[in-house]
Amino acid sequence: MPDFTVRLVESKMPIYLSLDTDFVLKKLQHADILKRILFLDKTTSTNDIAKTIVEEEGGHGTLIIAEEQTAGRGRKSNKWISARGKGLYFTLILGVPVTVSIQLITLAAGVAVAKAICSSCSLSTGLKWPNDVYIGERKVAGILTEAVTKGHETVKVLVGVGINVNNDLTDFDTETRLTATSLKIALGIEVPREEILVSFVEKFDEMHRKLLEGDSSQIVKEWLQMALYKGEELEVQTEKTSIVGKFVGVNEAGALIIRDHEQNLHEIWAVDVIKCRKTSLKDHS
Ligand code: BTN
Repeated sequence: MPDFTVRLVESKMPIYLSLDTDFVLKKLQHADILKRILFLDKTTSTNDIAKTIVEEEGGHGTLIIAEEQTAGRGRKSNKWISARGKGLYFTLILGVPVTVSIQLITLAAGVAVAKAICSSCSLSTGLKWPNDVYIGERKVAGILTEAVTKGHETVKVLVGVGINVNNDLTDFDTETRLTATSLKIALGIEVPREEILVSFVEKFDEMHRKLLEGDSSQIVKEWLQMALYKGEELEVQTEKTSIVGKFVGVNEAGALIIRDHEQNLHEIWAVDVIKCRKTSLKDHS
């Protein structure tokens, strides 16, 4: 039986957790991947808390959930607006073998988010490489996977997930409002966050088993089934260059494969990418 802990932080303030923690704890007590869950009231970023936990105690299998983040972040220092009690903001600490690609973990998390949204709300989503989940043309969720390293060795992987669940457009800033959506906006009704969280962990648990078995094929296959822009022309902007080519697929480590106009194949790693967008949708990052 996992050693589940409920810890509330910042207790100088009145604690208000609208998330039904009992429901979540009960439903997730048999998830292989989880050792404990920390429910936080308000924090800077669950990824930051996860980093501290890794440094202090290891923390493999710890899930950190916050009602609110004051400095939620995404890839390439983008901010993740985390309105109180509206969305899901959480980070899972994983101790995975060094052979497992971080990019593949991000794809696996994307598949788990998409499946959780589908089973809890019957909404279909599209996955945009490397880490985005879309409803139609708008982003509903994002994944920030970070490695915690000691020397050259990755000691833990932090899988940070943000899902806009009951967020209203007014919760976003004016820029984000142009490209973001939420499950509530898409459905027209409020959605219980607990069900999506539980469903995500259950789906990711299955993916995690595959990752440990070294079986990337199922993850890649499922990700590609839900991938946006297959066969379409993409523009990938890296620190050094910009490549335009057709989206061919992803390899077993989760890198994007595109074919340029001279028929050269390029393997693209998320860590190098500033922007990846369909050439006909220049305003989408
Ligand atoms: C992205 O779209 O670039 C990734 C967004 C990831 C947001 C989540 S919310 C929980 C966790 N804590 C963070 O600060 N970021 C991730």
